[in-house]
Amino acid sequence: MALIAQRPKGTLDAVPAEAYKWNTVESIARETAELYGFKEIRTPMFEQTNLFERSVGDTTDVVQKEMYTVTAKTSQRGEKENSFTLRPEGTAGAARAVLENGILNEALPQKVYYIISCFRHEKQQKGRYREFHQFGVEMYGSSSPCADADVIALAQSYIDRLGLKGIELCINSIGCPTCRAKYHEALRAYFESKKSDLCETCLGRLEKNPMRILDCKSPVCSEIAKDAPVILDFLCEECSTHFEALKANLTAMEIDFTINPKIVRGLDYYTKTVFEFITTDIGAQGTVCGGGRYDGLIEEIGGPKTPALGFAMGLERLILTMDSQGCDYIQPRKCNLFIASMGNMALAKAVTLTKALRDEGFWVEYDVMGRGLKAQMKYADKINAEFSMVLGDNELETNKVNLKNMKTGEQIEIALDESFIDQFSNIQISNMFGGIL
Ligand code: HAM
Repeated sequence: MALIAQRPKGTLDAVPAEAYKWNTVESIARETAELYGFKEIRTPMFEQTNLFERSVGDTTDVVQKEMYTVTAKTSQRGEKENSFTLRPEGTAGAARAVLENGILNEALPQKVYYIISCFRHEKQQKGRYREFHQFGVEMYGSSSPCADADVIALAQSYIDRLGLKGIELCINSIGCPTCRAKYHEALRAYFESKKSDLCETCLGRLEKNPMRILDCKSPVCSEIAKDAPVILDFLCEECSTHFEALKANLTAMEIDFTINPKIVRGLDYYTKTVFEFITTDIGAQGTVCGGGRYDGLIEEIGGPKTPALGFAMGLERLILTMDSQGCDYIQPRKCNLFIASMGNMALAKAVTLTKALRDEGFWVEYDVMGRGLKAQMKYADKINAEFSMVLGDNELETNKVNLKNMKTGEQIEIALDESFIDQFSNIQISNMFGGIL
């Protein structure tokens, strides 16, 4: 059999045997975000391209190399062209949406979270995909270092609730435009002396935004970047005080952290605090979470001056880490009952019973394949049904049926009348507590 198309490179299928894992990371994400007072926001999967150019930054790898952009005609006669891009991340779209919907006029801070798919045209490898998923949170309105600590505490709490161990929190401050100006000068002087070895893209970045050279993925540039000056040595007093207060807050919350002055993040909007959670369990792409403060972004995209911060977790990377650490997932629900049938009358009875039991909240299956009894029971086994019963002429005549516990093989006779659902419910409940069957 030759399929006419394959899964696009850099994307993943989550087949049912794997998809239940997503339910765990997503439901615990919602639960944790809501405990910290964040409410869900849903925004379009694509935005006008200039939103990402202005926010993520036009000298970043994401904007320069990785965006999926289409040009679309936006009027019926087709005279107006507009450029749209599949979202490479969630911060820009959330910021646009809170502004456009007037959410920042309400009581501050405003706190939103999202679980979304993102798209970046990257080289595929384990943990790095072209379509991937993020759980992200954003907080608008607070410039206090308490807010930084709060958002980091939320990320830590989520990681703990997933059962993950040994994930290292690394923090840094990349300052504000004032301290960054001096830092850029020092970086320029450093990279100028290595100019002949830099890649083409980084040569362009040297004048415009030398910090971006620090997270270039080319092996030569990253080797050169290792000895570059670090921003922590250039922080102004305000940024330095903010960073000290953040450290004190994290310590007070008993959240372990390491200071890593090399973290600069790959997106342009960050100011002051930046942080990452990193695992060594899944290979080179071990950053499971990235975030930080972005006090200039809201103004940059046309809103009022508003401090803000947030983070996003890569859900594929979290699942990879959970698998490698053998973490528990919320188990998918079990089939409560398989009703096997012999003959048309019995099948008709199976259909009505199934419908009635499903209406009461049980997962019930019956034979829709026209199989013989033996094959039906084999199927009941395969789907791990908790109970089974066989309906045939005899059962219909006597109005009694044997209910079999598929695990223990024990059987109990129950009436096949209007009391059936109640009887089945009682047996289910007692089974949960290790009862008669
Ligand atoms: P980011 O570091 O670009 O930050 O992405 C956040 C997380 O998404 C990464 O730590 C990683 O786990 C995951 N991720 C990124 N790219 C890929 C990929 N190609 N394949 C698989 N996973 C990936 C942001 O996106 C910011 N918007 C985070 C943020 C929110 N900052 C403030 N608020």
